[in-house]
Amino acid sequence: SDGFDLHICCMGAGYVGGPTMAVIAANCPKGVMGSVTCGPPVFVSIPIRDESITTWGGGGGERAIRVCVVDLSQKQIDAWNSPDLPIYEPGLVEVVEKCRGTNLFFSTDIDAEIELADVVFISVNTPTKTAGIGAGRAANVKNCELCARKIAEVSMGDKIVVEKSTVPVRTAEAVRRVLDCNEKGLRFQVLSNPEFLAEGTAIPDLMEPDRVLIGGVQSPEGLRAAETLASVYANWVPRERILTTNLWSSELAKLVANAFLAQRVSSINSISALCEATGANVSEITRAVGMDDRIGKRFLNSSIGFGGSCFQKDILNLVYLCETYGLRECAEYWNQVIIMNDYQKKRFSEKMVSTMFNTVTGKKIAILGFAFKKDTGDVRETPSMFVVRDLVHEQAKIHVYDPQVKREDMWIEMDYTCKMNAANHPGLEEAVTTSPDAYSACDGAHALAVLTEWDEFKDLDYERIYKSMAKPAFVFDGRNILDHDALRKVGFEVHAIGKPD
Ligand code: NAD
Ligand code: UGA
Repeated sequence: SDGFDLHICCMGAGYVGGPTMAVIAANCPKGVMGSVTCGPPVFVSIPIRDESITTWGGGGGERAIRVCVVDLSQKQIDAWNSPDLPIYEPGLVEVVEKCRGTNLFFSTDIDAEIELADVVFISVNTPTKTAGIGAGRAANVKNCELCARKIAEVSMGDKIVVEKSTVPVRTAEAVRRVLDCNEKGLRFQVLSNPEFLAEGTAIPDLMEPDRVLIGGVQSPEGLRAAETLASVYANWVPRERILTTNLWSSELAKLVANAFLAQRVSSINSISALCEATGANVSEITRAVGMDDRIGKRFLNSSIGFGGSCFQKDILNLVYLCETYGLRECAEYWNQVIIMNDYQKKRFSEKMVSTMFNTVTGKKIAILGFAFKKDTGDVRETPSMFVVRDLVHEQAKIHVYDPQVKREDMWIEMDYTCKMNAANHPGLEEAVTTSPDAYSACDGAHALAVLTEWDEFKDLDYERIYKSMAKPAFVFDGRNILDHDALRKVGFEVHAIGKPD
C-alpha cells in the first residue's frame, strides 16, 4: 500500500480537470511521506490538514486521498508539472504548489493511473459536433466514450466512474453500457457530477461552491457510490450543499444552469439595443430591475455578447435535445438566446464602422482585451474575435492588447471558429498586430474598443492615450467599465453598450 486510502484519477487535464483536482487534493487529508532506509519513498497514512485551506469548509472523512490527473497530451502534463501552468487562473498556482508531489500528481501514464484508482473522473472536452448527425448543435461525446472504453480495458477491479464533462442527458447510460462490456466481470458504478466553476474565479468557486451535484442510480450500490463521492467533497463543502439526484436530473441540471445564465445575458443585451434607440440607460435599468430580490443583481451586465467554450455549446446541446424529443417550441425558445448573442456581437462591430464615417479601411483600431472575460487567457468563442473578424473584413489595421492572451492562441481560435487563417486570407498576419501594452496599441489609432473587462483598463492614463490618437478619437466601451463622463472631458467621443451617445 502507498498509504493512501482512496485513489482518484481524473482523465483530462484541462480548465476543469486541473483546477478541480487541485482543489480536491488541497482539501483532503494527505498521506505523509514516511522515511525508509532503501527503495523508493513510501507514504504512511497520517492524515494532515492544511489549516490555511481547510478554513474554507466543514469536516468530512479522514481518509487520505491521492489524486492524479492524466491526459493524452504530454505538453499539457509537462506544463502542469512545471512552474508555468498551462492555464491562467488566479490562485491556482498556490493551490497546485501546495499539493503537487504530495497527494496531487499529473501524468500521461493513463493505464497505470486508472488501474490504481478507486474513482475515475471523466473531464474531457465535449465540443459541438462539426459533421454528421446533429452537426453544429449536438455535443460530441466521442472523448467520453473513449475514456469509458479505456477504463473498461485496463481496469482490474471495480471502480466508480464519474462523469464530470458536460454531456447530453442519458450519456451516463452509454458510459455504463460500454463499461459493462468488460470481459473481466467487473462492476462499475457511474455517477454524474457536473462542474459549475466559472473561469477567472475557478478557485473560489471550487473552494466555496454554491452546490455540488451528484447524480446516481437509485440502487443500493448506486447510492453507496454517490456517498463515497459526497464524502470526498464533505472534507470542505457543507453537507447541505451537496445535492444528490438521479442521473438524468444531474446531467440536465448542468445544461439548464448554463442556459439560464446565458439567457440573462441575452435578455439584458436585447434591452441594451432598446436603450440605445430610446435614450434609456442600461445600467440604470439593471439597477432598478436587479434590486428586485426575485430577479437579483448578478449576471446582468450588458456586453458585446457572451463567449467562452460552454454557453453556446451547452445551449445548442439543449436545443438539439429538445428537437430530438420532438419539442420544437422548446428548441426554438432556447435557440433565441444564441440568435440574440450573435446579433449583439454583429451590432457592436457595425456600430463601430457606421460611427467612424462608414469606413475603417486603412484605419488603425486598438482592441483592448481579447479573452472572453477578465482574469483568464482563454479565447474559446471569445466575442472579441468576431469583432476583430468583422473589422478585418472592413480592412482596418487591428492592434490587439490583452494581458494574458498569447498570439498563437488567438490565431488558433480565429482559424477554428471563424475559419480565417493566413492561407485563405492573405495579409491577415499583417492586418492584426499584437501589442505589448495598451499605450502602443492606441498610439496613432482612430478608435479604441474595450472588449474584455480587465481591471487595468479602468486605470489607464487616458489623457496620454488621447494625445497619441488620431482625431476625432473614438472610444467604444463594449463592457461599460470606463468612466464615460471623464473620457468625454478629456476629448474622446464615447460610445457604450446600452447608453445614450
Ligand atoms: P479542455 O479542452 O480544457 O480539457 C480537456 C482535456 O481532455 C484536454 O487536455 C484533452 O487533451 C484531454 N482529453 C481528451 N480526450 C482524452 C482522453 N481520451 N484521455 C485523456 N485525456 C483526454 O476542456 P475543459 O474546459 O476542461 O472542459 C471539460 C468539460 O467540462 C467539458 O465538457 C466542458 O463543457 C465542461 N465544463 C467546462 C468548464 C470551463 O469553465 N471550461 C466549466 C464547467 C464544465
Ligand atoms: C460559465 C458558467 O458561469 C459556469 O457556472 C459554468 O460552469 C461554465 O460556464 C461552463 O459550464 O463552462 P464561464 O463561461 O467560465 O462560466 O464564465 P461566465 O462568467 O459565465 O461568463 C460567460 C460569458 O458571459 C463571458 O463572455 C462573460 O463576459 C459574459 N457575461 C457574463 C456577460 O456578458 N454579462 C454578464 O453579466 C455575465
